[in-house]
Amino acid sequence: MDKRELIQKAIDALPASYAPYSHFHVAAALLCGDGSVYIGNNIENASYSATVCAERCAFFKAVSEGKRRFQAIAICGGQNGVITDYCPPCGVCRQVMREFCAPKEFQIYLAKSREDYAEYTLEQLLPMSFGPEKLS
Ligand code: THU
Repeated sequence: MDKRELIQKAIDALPASYAPYSHFHVAAALLCGDGSVYIGNNIENASYSATVCAERCAFFKAVSEGKRRFQAIAICGGQNGVITDYCPPCGVCRQVMREFCAPKEFQIYLAKSREDYAEYTLEQLLPMSFGPEKLS
C-alpha cells in the first residue's frame, strides 16, 4: 500500500471521531504486516479519563482480531475535524506502538493532506524506549 493511500484512508475517517468535549478530531489508518488496514478514531467520554486516542483504537481493533505485525500508521487531526497542522501521537500511544512494532522499522506518517506529510520511525518519536524484550 502506498503511503498516500494510507494517509487518504486516515483523512477519510476523520468525520467518525467522537469528540464532543475537546472538539479535536483524530483519525489513524494502521497498515498491518499482511497488508490489511485498520482505522481508528478518538472516542471521548464524559468521564474524560475513559477517552481513547485514535491510534490506540486502531491498534486495539487490529490486535483483537489477531494482527501482530505492523508496518506503518498514518495520523491526522484537527479542531472540529479541520486539519491545519500535523497531529503527533501522544506518549501513551507511542508506548502502545512500541509493544508491537520494531522501533527502527515502524513508520509514522503525520499528515496535513495526502501530499503534505512528515515521516518518522517509531524510534525517532520514542527514543531509548522500554519494550517487551526487557521482560523476557
Ligand atoms: N488524541 C488522539 O486521538 N491521539 C493523540 O495521539 C493525541 C490526542 C485525542 C484525544 C482527545 O479525544 C483529543 O485528541 C484531545 O486530546
